[in-house]
Amino acid sequence: MRDLEYILATTRCAHDNLGFIPAPTIQSFHLDRGLWLPVTTRRGRRVGFMLHGPVRSGLPLRIYQCVVEPDHRLREAATRAVDELRKRARDCGATEIILRCRENLPANAFWLAIGAQLIDQHPGGIRYRSPVNEYSLKT
Ligand SMILES: CC(C)(COP(=O)(O)OP(=O)(O)OC[C@H]1O[C@@H](n2cnc3c(N)ncnc32)[C@H](O)[C@@H]1OP(=O)(O)O)[C@@H](O)C(=O)NCCC(=O)NCCS
Repeated sequence: MRDLEYILATTRCAHDNLGFIPAPTIQSFHLDRGLWLPVTTRRGRRVGFMLHGPVRSGLPLRIYQCVVEPDHRLREAATRAVDELRKRARDCGATEIILRCRENLPANAFWLAIGAQLIDQHPGGIRYRSPVNEYSLKT
């Protein structure tokens, strides 16, 4: 399956937990520019994906979406992907990794478990009223 098709299919299994990113943006901003990572099992099988922003020296690196297929969760796949992104960030001199997560989602426990610090909270939107937590991860 092509990368874009895989990402769109995987997004569907978690779409209530994710902000909407249009398919053309995923293709042109993330895939064409290499601003993403496949999330894999220890043996290298793709079981999810992570979309991130530009990696620039002296600036934060932003994670936009991270999804693991439901049958492969709680096996450290996302932790490995974050570790890889941390290396990418360090190699380019990015200052920190920033991400947002709605306050009412189970994923908050994941970010806290891997050492993210809550740094801010933003008001919820019209569709999802829950406030949005902003986290920082050391590179
Ligand atoms: C959030 C998500 C990416 C985590 O992926 P994962 O591969 O299951 O996470 P890991 O196995 O690497 O978990 C690492 C740690 O986080 C904890 N954790 C992960 N998901 C958790 C959950 N739902 N509830 C409580 N703890 C959780 C694990 O127990 C583990 O902690 P430990 O090291 O103390 O045992 C995955 O659950 C997912 O795709 N969720 C749906 C999409 C989503 O919400 N994405 C994030 C939007 S901000």
